[in-house]
Amino acid sequence: MAGVDPEVVKKIEGAYDILQKDEKGHSLLKKYLSKEVIEKLKNKKTAMGASLWDCIQSGVANTDSGVGIYAPDAESYTTFSDLFYPIINDYHIGFDISKGAKHPAADFGLAKLNFPNPDPEGKYIVSTRVRCGRSLQGYPFNPLLNEQQYKDMEKKVQEALTGLGGELAGKYYPLTGMTKEVQTQLIEDHFLFKEGDRFLQTANASRYWPTGRGIFHNAAKTFLVWVNEEDHLRIISMQKGGDLLAVFKRLIEGVNQIEKKLPFSHDDTLGFQTFCPTNLGTTVRASVHIKLPNLSKNLDEFHKIAGKYNLQVRGSAGEHSEAVGGIYDISNKRRMGLTEYDAVKEMYDGIVELIKLEKASEAK
Ligand code: ADP
Ligand code: ARG
Repeated sequence: MAGVDPEVVKKIEGAYDILQKDEKGHSLLKKYLSKEVIEKLKNKKTAMGASLWDCIQSGVANTDSGVGIYAPDAESYTTFSDLFYPIINDYHIGFDISKGAKHPAADFGLAKLNFPNPDPEGKYIVSTRVRCGRSLQGYPFNPLLNEQQYKDMEKKVQEALTGLGGELAGKYYPLTGMTKEVQTQLIEDHFLFKEGDRFLQTANASRYWPTGRGIFHNAAKTFLVWVNEEDHLRIISMQKGGDLLAVFKRLIEGVNQIEKKLPFSHDDTLGFQTFCPTNLGTTVRASVHIKLPNLSKNLDEFHKIAGKYNLQVRGSAGEHSEAVGGIYDISNKRRMGLTEYDAVKEMYDGIVELIKLEKASEAK
């Protein structure tokens, strides 16, 4: 295979200054893309042709990224491991892939699940959601997919989902042909992914949009699957209130039914393979939409307290959004180096503590 185009090598070399010169930028890419790493990786390519530039271009275009790197194909994680591994270690606190750590085998802990509602009166928790990502075997991630592959994948996934039974039974709604009104309502109600994400666009992950993209959901919109947005599949369970047990059990049932029909890519070291290194491993993000008016008065403090429990705070419309009406999205931050059960329990235990702290501040 031909080497990396000299123009592309130049862009890779130029990335260092762009990142370092932006004083406001604090991405993990900026932290770990040293001149040594650039020298070592700038001429490498994966078998499918991905270069280091394909991995970092989003983070270079968006110097305000939190992370700033994506893998165009699964092989990128190893070909460019000198950059991906330190970022993976930094993000998934406590997991050290550089020292040979392997992500544990999947374990949803179905037999031991015990998550009594931390807010039975519904004073703090507005809703609860758990999602995981999956990739179809035999396909790269967004930047390397062609239009026909998007169509083929959508067809395969739609067929598999149409066979779901019981509470999960629902319908697939392609983005192609969906009215703006329906799309906007689904986004506002927190069911559908947003459109025009600049981090994905500059990663080359939104080509042929809306081809191959869509959403499956049951009538109650408590079980949903996003198709071909950031990942091939995002499997989601959600409902109003704080009954995490019901939400998580529904997700497990969904994953179990779908994996009988579709082959997912999994790796002994990385766990389930995803486009973004933040989502590797369990791929699980368990979250609540929650109002904690006292704790969130001082935002820096709020982020610090959440960080103590390995929790991440997002706004009410998800990542890179603001909190509207005092509602925050709080979720487990790490997804690698622990089991699915532990990732969900990490969110649950942290939320129990945050509610205790909020109550204590009310009593003062
Ligand atoms: P992801 O969860 O897939 O990483 P986002 O952070 O963009 O992606 O969130 C996707 C959507 O899910 C957003 O509309 C967000 O508000 C919604 N969401 C996340 N957690 C909850 C929750 N606990 N209750 C209701 N909606 C939620
Ligand atoms: N690339 C974006 C950033 O660095 C998103 C990172 C994590 N989120 C995600 N949806 N993969 O800020």
